[in-house]
Amino acid sequence: MAQKLLLKNIKQLIAVYQTAPQKLEGAEMKRLPSLNNAWLAAQDDVIIDYGTMETFPGITDWKDLEIIDCEGKIVMPCFADSHTHIVYAGNREQEFVDRINGLTYEEIASRGGGILNSANKLRETSEDDLFEQSKLRLHEIILQGTGSVEIKSGYGLCLESELKMLRVIKRLKNLNWIPIKATFLGAHAVPLEFKDNKTGYIDVIINQMLPAIASENLANFIDVFCENNYFTAQETKQILEAGKKYGLIGKVHAEQLSHSNGIKTAIECDAISVDHLEFCNQDDILLLKNSNTMPTILPGAAFFLNLPLPPARKMIDAGLAVAFASDFNPGSCPTGNIKLMMSMACIQYKLTPEEAINATTINSAYAMGLQNSVGTITIGKLANLIITKTINSYSFLPYAFGSDLIDTVIINGQKFK
Ligand code: NIG
Ligand code: FE
Repeated sequence: MAQKLLLKNIKQLIAVYQTAPQKLEGAEMKRLPSLNNAWLAAQDDVIIDYGTMETFPGITDWKDLEIIDCEGKIVMPCFADSHTHIVYAGNREQEFVDRINGLTYEEIASRGGGILNSANKLRETSEDDLFEQSKLRLHEIILQGTGSVEIKSGYGLCLESELKMLRVIKRLKNLNWIPIKATFLGAHAVPLEFKDNKTGYIDVIINQMLPAIASENLANFIDVFCENNYFTAQETKQILEAGKKYGLIGKVHAEQLSHSNGIKTAIECDAISVDHLEFCNQDDILLLKNSNTMPTILPGAAFFLNLPLPPARKMIDAGLAVAFASDFNPGSCPTGNIKLMMSMACIQYKLTPEEAINATTINSAYAMGLQNSVGTITIGKLANLIITKTINSYSFLPYAFGSDLIDTVIINGQKFK
């Protein structure tokens, strides 16, 4: 029996496209096509139709039809979070306190804290325990309106624990809550065992981890932290090229703490996205302009680490598409609240509300290859939707930056929250 859902009296249905764009670039990001006083119908897990209330469908079959009255409320596609590390063990609030007391992220890392701290915790945690901890975070972000997500490995840093992380991601996928893309981030840091032998660790990534991951089909993407004291541009290229041989598309943590030529390398390797970009310069913007790689800003991490702001406004003004995502992780952004990221996009980066919504829906969906199934209100796309509380306009969402304004979350055509 088909399960049916009808949303009626929607004050405003936003991001509506008969034919959805792949992404929105430059001035297009200011567009937010919408319908006032609208309805939307979903069957099973997809959107099957929508319109204005004058064309309200004459329903003949009321069996198994759930109706939600959205009077005074806005309906939009769920957020797409294209960059997270939500599979991790324990937390790192001590490092938070250390930074308040004056240490930098780099200093903490060089003392064995940071990513290596999380790696120690993760190695000691069983797969089942890791799954339960991560499932709670996945549940939390869905309640906050995220309807598709990318999740990275990268706190294992040895074959066994990287596989453990990726198997947990697979189990999260198998919950069939929301679409999940898995990213292999073995090159997140050099583990202690290889402290003086980075080449040896890269050899493990390429010749042990990659074949094992490919044989279990555990990843869609491959990512590298291209940064001083982590992986150079040349090493990044070597790792991305190796991943490509197994069908893994590249993503890069680039120009976060310094300018390390991550963007240039990512583009040369046809990466789907480059993320962070605090030290992105004018030359990088020109390179991005001639590529299909989605620049992705992670405002939560820049905020949490007090980093300089990436030039998002400049990028959009230069005609680029830009995505915003959370980077939810224990070290640099312990939240996955995309509505809050939208507020930062508007307040700190001077995006308009329309641009912020597009950056966290269709463009971030593109950054993980999901633009054809989520990110807009389009017939045939997944019915993963946010119904807001009663609000005056969508600008109220980023404006009221600390308020929970999400009334209902529809996932696969059914109420999740
Ligand atoms: O995206 N930049 C590198 N990796 C993470 C931080 C990881 C951590 O500190 O645990 C990031 O910010
Ligand atoms: Fe990250």
